[in-house]
Amino acid sequence: MTRIAIYPGSFDPVTRGHEDIIRRSRHFADRVIVAVAVNPGKDPLFTLSERTEFLRVAVGDEAGVEIRAFDGLLAKFAEKVDATLVVRGLRAVSDFEYEFQMALMNRTLYEALETVFLVPDVGLTFLSSSLVKEVARFGGDVGMFVHPTVRAALAEKFAR
Ligand code: COA
Repeated sequence: MTRIAIYPGSFDPVTRGHEDIIRRSRHFADRVIVAVAVNPGKDPLFTLSERTEFLRVAVGDEAGVEIRAFDGLLAKFAEKVDATLVVRGLRAVSDFEYEFQMALMNRTLYEALETVFLVPDVGLTFLSSSLVKEVARFGGDVGMFVHPTVRAALAEKFAR
């Protein structure tokens, strides 16, 4: 049986923290589908195709990792691609409540779907896409936190 996991998010943009979780997921899943959400609730800095492309550059060469965009319910997308696991990173206790609710809602919507929580590398636990964008917006160096392609794209975006 092939074990398929989904790692969903907005990835606006992908950070080293996300990359770390994707690589860790490969230890227990045969295939990891990184599911890039359209997410109309957030007003993204990068377009869906830019966010997807950054992921391709950052982790697209990893064996067993696929990058897909999705719209609508995660539970429906999971069922469509035969995934039985959702991977989420837990960076701090503050992440827990929301994650707990999402895990239960997703399993209610699609019974076969279990959520697995991974702890990122300790040096990456403070990262978020918003924080990276804020540092880049004000001219700070984000080279430690994102792939060089993302760093260049942020620099270009905020140079305008
Ligand atoms: N390293 C670095 N940053 C991380 C991280 C990690 N390991 N894990 C999470 N983050 C950051 C994200 O970049 C994001 O930052 P931002 O808010 O500054 O953009 C923040 O933490 C929150 O991440 P997350 O909770 O994954 O939010 P998201 O917007 O990236 O993704 C979806 C949320 C897309 C997974 C969720 O809204 C969804 O499933 N939507 C589909 C609709 C649906 O099914 N809804 C019902 C769900 S029950």
